Amino acid sequence: MFKKEQVLASLSLAALLLGAQMAVGREIPTAPENFLAMTNPLAGKKEAEKAGLETYKKKCAKCHGEKGDGAGKSAKDLNPPVTAFNKAGYLKGRKDGQLFWIIKNGSPKTDMDAYGEGTNFNLKDEQIWQIVAYMRSKFAKE
Ligand code: HEC
Repeated sequence: MFKKEQVLASLSLAALLLGAQMAVGREIPTAPENFLAMTNPLAGKKEAEKAGLETYKKKCAKCHGEKGDGAGKSAKDLNPPVTAFNKAGYLKGRKDGQLFWIIKNGSPKTDMDAYGEGTNFNLKDEQIWQIVAYMRSKFAKE
């Protein structure tokens, strides 16, 4: 048997948890398995990292920041916020294929557009891997 107070207490706890979830608990969508299984064919290649830097500066830095801190000049007030790549453990916890998939296909209903072939930005897969190589070379923090 539940007392009225117990029911009310658990209802308000549920509401509290739901509110907290909505405020901080948003997750970036996870790539499908076939993408998660991919590894970057250009990882560690200096030429690729250089090319990736050029594309990153032109297309990504205005939101994600030159330093990968998510504080570019267009990032202000975006909701959900722009991902910072240079937070401790962030890149370590993301698979190559996850990064590749989001860059290629975007994150629906956010300011993260799709950049892959056939979009307005029309980046080739190779260019996306170059960016991923650059990001790992520059922004990864243990
Ligand atoms: C207009 C601002 C904006 C620009 C420009 C932009 N992004 Fe994003 N990006 C975002 C936002 C906002 C998110 C968070 C999306 C979410 O919460 O689902 C994001 C998320 C990401 C993620 C996170 C993926 C993950 O799984 O953790 C990656 C990687 C990324 N962007 C790469 C890029 C790259 C590379 C470019 C340039 C080709 C770029 N972004 C350009 C706004 C932007």
